[in-house]
Amino acid sequence: MRNILITGGAGFIGSNFIRYLLNTEPDVKVINLDLLTYAGSLENLKDLPDPNRHIFVKGDICDQALLEDLLSEHQIDTIVHFAAETHVDRSILDAGQFIQTNVVGTFKLLEAARKKWLEEKPSGTAAAQDVHFHHVSTDEVYGSLEPDDQPFSETTNYAPNSPYAASKAGSDHLVRAYGQTYGLPYTITNCSNNYGPYQFPEKLIPLILLNAMDGQPLPVYGDGRQIRDWLFVEDHCSAILTVLKNGIPGETYNIGGGNQPTNLVVVNTLCEILDECQPNSPFIPHQELIKYVPDRPGHDRRYAMDITKIKHELDWEPRQSLANGLLKTVEWYLSHPEWINAIRDQQEFQGWLQLNYEARGGGSNKL
Ligand code: NAD
Ligand code: TYD
Repeated sequence: MRNILITGGAGFIGSNFIRYLLNTEPDVKVINLDLLTYAGSLENLKDLPDPNRHIFVKGDICDQALLEDLLSEHQIDTIVHFAAETHVDRSILDAGQFIQTNVVGTFKLLEAARKKWLEEKPSGTAAAQDVHFHHVSTDEVYGSLEPDDQPFSETTNYAPNSPYAASKAGSDHLVRAYGQTYGLPYTITNCSNNYGPYQFPEKLIPLILLNAMDGQPLPVYGDGRQIRDWLFVEDHCSAILTVLKNGIPGETYNIGGGNQPTNLVVVNTLCEILDECQPNSPFIPHQELIKYVPDRPGHDRRYAMDITKIKHELDWEPRQSLANGLLKTVEWYLSHPEWINAIRDQQEFQGWLQLNYEARGGGSNKL
């Protein structure tokens, strides 16, 4: 039996990971620590398989005393660290919370692990060689690629461009330092853009879907030709579990979906799928809702991941094609109106939409 502390498990990827873990690993117990910020919701944890193996704790990763108590009380031997502030546009308007949660919060978690796992090692708790700190990070730490550049590999220099990316880069460096300096057994994964069920609708794909379903404008930043590498969230979950089981301590693994669509291609594809899934919608063709709006400052042009290492060393690769993953995602959002209403109607989110999009104006149908 492994006792796993998952931070940020009420968010998008964390909740998908908990569901995946409980489904596939009968011998794990999950302690889920989440502050339930605007991005976290207990709605994401409804209908978990085998809920007796899941304990939810509302709390802050910056609270080191709480972290130490949880590590002792539940004899935690594995930490999977998802908790973070995650939206680039919010980090541009207000970076402070990103530094606090992503840098200071990760530091507190590392300190708690160092103290409980490496210093105290009380009898009955896991010895240093049996513990594992896994840090979930992003491809955005590597910066932006030119059209002909090679994809990011694990040895690409860090060059973060947004406050979000810089705060994640800082947290990656701290994790590495705790491994080098104190011998904390750790792994890091840097993953590309995720999409799928339970994603908060501030991010591109669910935002476009919800707006299109309502006949609202579909805001495309700049010329819409920025490129992301998209990964279906369940593939990210299987990659993290693979690294937990077989990853080498002290190593970093890049994870990606192996596709390179522009944002315009993604938005147009979502519109086409919606046209087909909702033949009676008054908003067909949904593409007519597209509006070009002023660009994001410092907008990274292109991300792409070289996943050779995890493929060859750990035998992991993505299963879901982008076309199929997008279809599954549209079907999930169409069949979960109660989730959408619970999340979308929050005052905080409505305030965010006004702040981010009203400032950009109505946009234009043409570039
Ligand atoms: P999310 O914004 O959906 O969820 C973040 C969760 O963390 C929320 O449940 C929130 O309540 C919780 N949280 C925030 N501050 C906290 C604090 N101080 N203490 C405890 N909990 C706190 O994020 P996500 O998209 O699920 O991303 C999860 C992780 O994966 C992040 O570390 C992110 O950087 C990384 N990542 C995300 C993507 C992506 O495309 N979404 C891609 C690569 C890596
Ligand atoms: P996002 O989902 O915010 O992820 P990230 O910035 O971490 O890659 O954005 C994905 C891409 O979509 C990014 O290039 C910005 C763009 N985008 C829009 O064009 N319009 C939007 O309303 C949003 C939220 C994003």
